[in-house]
Amino acid sequence: MATTGTEKFSLLSVVFDEMAKNYENGIGGAQKDIVRALLSHSKENYPINSTSIIHDNACGPAVATSEILNQGITPPPQIFATDYAQGMIDITNSYKERRAWDTVTVQQMDGQALSFEDEKFTHSISSLGVFLFPDEKKGLSEMYRTLKPGGWIGVSSWKDVRWPTAAIAAYEKLFPDAKEPMILPVPKNWMDPENCERNLLQAGFREVKSEIIHCINRQENKEIGASAFAGFLRQVSPTVKAWDEETREEYMAYYSKLVEDMFSPSADGSGVELTLYAIVTSGRK
Ligand SMILES: C[S@@+](CC[C@H](N)C(=O)[O-])C[C@H]1O[C@@H](n2cnc3c(N)ncnc32)[C@H](O)[C@@H]1O
Repeated sequence: MATTGTEKFSLLSVVFDEMAKNYENGIGGAQKDIVRALLSHSKENYPINSTSIIHDNACGPAVATSEILNQGITPPPQIFATDYAQGMIDITNSYKERRAWDTVTVQQMDGQALSFEDEKFTHSISSLGVFLFPDEKKGLSEMYRTLKPGGWIGVSSWKDVRWPTAAIAAYEKLFPDAKEPMILPVPKNWMDPENCERNLLQAGFREVKSEIIHCINRQENKEIGASAFAGFLRQVSPTVKAWDEETREEYMAYYSKLVEDMFSPSADGSGVELTLYAIVTSGRK
């Protein structure tokens, strides 16, 4: 049997472009739970107020930006929302227009080469962002460079997003003699709090702390939940992309069934839910 495992590799912006439309519903609001946990760290250590200048780095569909503005701080702080995928930028721009976010600037930008000047931000947030960059050290050093002395950094990563376990189980079941491991973009050096703290300390941050939190993927039914995870897997796994259509569909059917079985009915009866585990890490410059 092939040794199955996970590898980090470069996800091109086109992958996130394709994912943009499905991303928000795909993890069923878990991303908002994670940002709220990050913001509660900020509240304890360096609260956001009207004079804050915030970077939402690898913003996706404006996840941290929305949560910050939902806090109702008056007047709202300045926020710079950046992402390298045009699809995510388009969604963020549409929210800016629809919700009249006058203090938000939206820019397409690679987090590994920020075009901001040194020491611009009071708060620098990258939720489920910088850990996915091909060169996350460069990403963190750019966050350090653009943060004011004493400024606050908050990042998050996955401890266990659940679908990789199902992907590997399906691979082992259907291809017991495979010579190659299944390739999945799961960055191993961000999967426990000690590593996450080390990553920030090595980038020069101090007062670094990290905790595992749980967050909930809430879906209308388990089929919708599984189909979103199947969509992600099709986009991010080179192993899946390399198969012919018949093999891919056979695998996807088996994988989807495993994912469906992970969901359970939600307590309030509104649908189904799946608990995911993330790590939130914060520090100061
Ligand atoms: C998992 S999503 C997270 C989105 C959002 N921050 C959230 O909290 O849900 C990862 C995001 O990182 C962006 N991203 C990945 N690599 C990037 C890079 N090198 N520079 C800028 N954005 C990047 C992707 O386009 C995508 O929007």
